[in-house]
Amino acid sequence: MTMPENDRGADALRPHAEDAFAEELKALAAADDRPRPARWNLSPWAVATYLLGGTLADGTVITPKYVGPRRIVEVAVTTLATDRALLLLGVPGTAKTWVSEHLAAAVSGDSTLLVQGTAGTPEEAIRYGWNYARLLAHGPGREALVPSPVMRAMAEGRVARVEELTRIPADVQDTLITVLSEKTLPIPELGQEVQAVRGFNLIATANDRDRGVNELSSALRRRFNTVVLPLPATADAEVDIVARRVDQMGRALDLPAAPEGLEEIRRVVTVFRELRDGITADGRTKVKSPSGTLSTAEAISVVTGGLALAAHFGDGVLRPSDVAAGILGAVVRDPAADRVVWQEYLEAVVRERDGWKDFYRACREVTA
Ligand SMILES: Nc1ncnc2c1ncn2[C@@H]1O[C@H](COP(=O)(O)OP(=O)(O)OP(=O)(O)O)[C@@H](O)[C@H]1O
Ligand SMILES: [Mg+2]
Repeated sequence: MTMPENDRGADALRPHAEDAFAEELKALAAADDRPRPARWNLSPWAVATYLLGGTLADGTVITPKYVGPRRIVEVAVTTLATDRALLLLGVPGTAKTWVSEHLAAAVSGDSTLLVQGTAGTPEEAIRYGWNYARLLAHGPGREALVPSPVMRAMAEGRVARVEELTRIPADVQDTLITVLSEKTLPIPELGQEVQAVRGFNLIATANDRDRGVNELSSALRRRFNTVVLPLPATADAEVDIVARRVDQMGRALDLPAAPEGLEEIRRVVTVFRELRDGITADGRTKVKSPSGTLSTAEAISVVTGGLALAAHFGDGVLRPSDVAAGILGAVVRDPAADRVVWQEYLEAVVRERDGWKDFYRACREVTA
């Protein structure tokens, strides 16, 4: 059986940004009369509007993808139109991957030219590899060469993405220096090179809280404009982000709509922020922080999991008992130390808080 070349389609569990938001991108391109950099599908203004949301002259509503400071998005988009690459930096769950995908989708219409960085990422993943059957049959030639996503982006003038750049071993990272400074990828075996055409650029993401990762060499770092994605500034902003994403994901999973569960979402976000900040929202009580990172991304999965519980085993409305187990799982990563942190928080903060009785009871039930 042969696999179809592209079997993603509308039924994909997680469609690529350019497919999921194809309508919005089309409407933006139609309305966009500003100058576009070479090979860009949209002008920088339209790319920023795609990320931040807005209403077009014809009434089309563009949903916000990124909720955060406008300037951050503007700087990121503008960087892509220069000869410097873009490095999105931040603590886990600050939407680095998410922003990178949407930027590539909006600029190039393709977010799939992706290299996933790991400790085992080889040079071939950034440069090129060989199809050994062809190499043996026909000898070295361009037909036997397997281009990396970066090489394809260079040749086609698109945006390539490198995820978790700092997890890649330092010598492999350095492969990118020539790519970013000379805009060329030499193929010494063939005495050839692939020169980047206009439109090419690269977005890398890196986590600034990873322990034991490879630092970026200063030579490579200089090739990047760094944009730091912050944690949501206020609880309201974070609730908004979680509610939006949960709603989008819930629709894909046929889960009930979230608005009815807004109270629970607020609760999850409050618990996460207080534990993260080490102090209660009113600034009165110090609490200990658990070992794991309680990011917005985790809050989203706790609420999505809770909605699934509510849909399949409850009355369809998100209740305290639907999120309690998820919160516990997110907070208690280290069974010994984190459990103590959680229990202290439960007794000192949750128990005393007005309107949190049901939640306290639900937490006690799963914590015991
Ligand atoms: N400011 C924000 N605006 C919109 N969505 C956000 C925001 N912060 C987090 N999210 C959501 O959080 C989820 C996780 O984001 P993402 O995976 O991009 O984080 P990340 O920074 O790449 O994390 P990691 O360091 O773990 O790779 C996404 O679904 C994203 O929509
Ligand atoms: Mg990521």
